[in-house]
Amino acid sequence: MDNFNFYSPTEFVFGKGRESECGEYVRKYGGSRVLIHYGGGSAVRSGLLDRVKSSLKAQDIYYTELGGVQPNPRDTLVYKGIDLCRNEKIDFILAVGGGSVIDSAKAIAAGTLYDGDFWDFYSGKHVEKALPIGVVLTISAAGSEGSGDSVITKEEGLLKRGTGSDALRSRFSVLDPELTQTLPAYQTACGATDIMAHVFERYFTNTKEVEITDRLCEAVLITMVKETPRVIADPNNYEARANIMWAGMVAHNGIVGVGRSQDWNSHGIEHELSALYDCAHGAGLAVIMPSWMEFVYKHDVMRFCQMATRVFGCQMNFEDPEATALEGIRRFRSFLHSIGMPINFAELGAKEEDIPVMVEKLGLGDGRTWGFVRLSAEDVTQIYMNAVKASH
Ligand code: NZQ
Ligand code: ZN
Repeated sequence: MDNFNFYSPTEFVFGKGRESECGEYVRKYGGSRVLIHYGGGSAVRSGLLDRVKSSLKAQDIYYTELGGVQPNPRDTLVYKGIDLCRNEKIDFILAVGGGSVIDSAKAIAAGTLYDGDFWDFYSGKHVEKALPIGVVLTISAAGSEGSGDSVITKEEGLLKRGTGSDALRSRFSVLDPELTQTLPAYQTACGATDIMAHVFERYFTNTKEVEITDRLCEAVLITMVKETPRVIADPNNYEARANIMWAGMVAHNGIVGVGRSQDWNSHGIEHELSALYDCAHGAGLAVIMPSWMEFVYKHDVMRFCQMATRVFGCQMNFEDPEATALEGIRRFRSFLHSIGMPINFAELGAKEEDIPVMVEKLGLGDGRTWGFVRLSAEDVTQIYMNAVKASH
């Protein structure tokens, strides 16, 4: 196991109705002038936003609001948010929504305290300080409620880029599984795919002897395979929603990836799809991740056999381990299809002729990526081509 630090300072406030306590938590973490940040309207329609406001009012906390965050959040709204925070002397941002809202809130939080252009943080500069943020989560997916990451799309040139810093970790995150019951089945499935992908990015490692994190990863994956079909069949299944919501946090706050090298190439390759086509991140991952697996499995066939046998219940074929590895990948793709995810370019609405542009934007030049298998531009092209051809 590699040396590591693990820092996850967020207070998680989990369970039914807990959003009514968010005013108390804002107060606890020093907020007195709050920006409530939210998305395209689901939180308004469900009445959640009103409940959040009542909770702030009950604590005599001043607030102003900025809605309209789009999925794959844009830099343009971040600039607006920064101006608003400065003009209103905001000292706390409350994100009410999913990964897009939370990531936009994180960008505003960092940008408000920075003299330069906030985009510097998405071009390699480290975030040293940010306004404190809190979260009321409405979709189990990105894991931004427990991560120090934020991903923003620059409208000019459609550049989707991320940043990561402990300064961006939420002070508290309210996780009420009931809030996710209004999600359309497609969004639920996109979220489930993203959660599984966050685990796979860590599971496929070159570090040896990492039994504890392997087993934690497998626990999250097995939970997702069991619980996702239950919520697709019955959106009001609270217990299954609860297991998925906590799985989404565990998958991405770092705990299942400590002490081991990680991959993250599927995320990089996917971000070009969601930047170009504005598709859901999870849907893009459903198309890319099995295609990436098919490209790299020979690098460590036994690790893929471990996934196949422990997560997808395959029988180990000792005479032909590659067959077991491939069967595991096939079952993963088939699972994604069964929950309503696209599994190839055509189903996602992506076009083969755009592949050179996406590879170019990844910026590998003559170089290679990082991770489990280091990929050249030709390798990435091949992975996109696997995704063009994938069938069920
Ligand atoms: O905008 P509203 O109206 O709220 O609708 C949203 C949105 O259309 C809807 N929704 C959310 N909660 C709902 C609901 N609809 C009904 N009922 C509810 N309870 O769902 C749609 C998707 O929301 P979004 O926030 O975009 O989803 P998600 O949480 O998947 O976030 C995706 C973004 O996170 C980034 C992705 O790249 C993408 O931009 N990621 C962020 C990460 C991080 N910060 O750690 C890591 C991830 O790998 C990921 O890259
Ligand atoms: Zn993701």
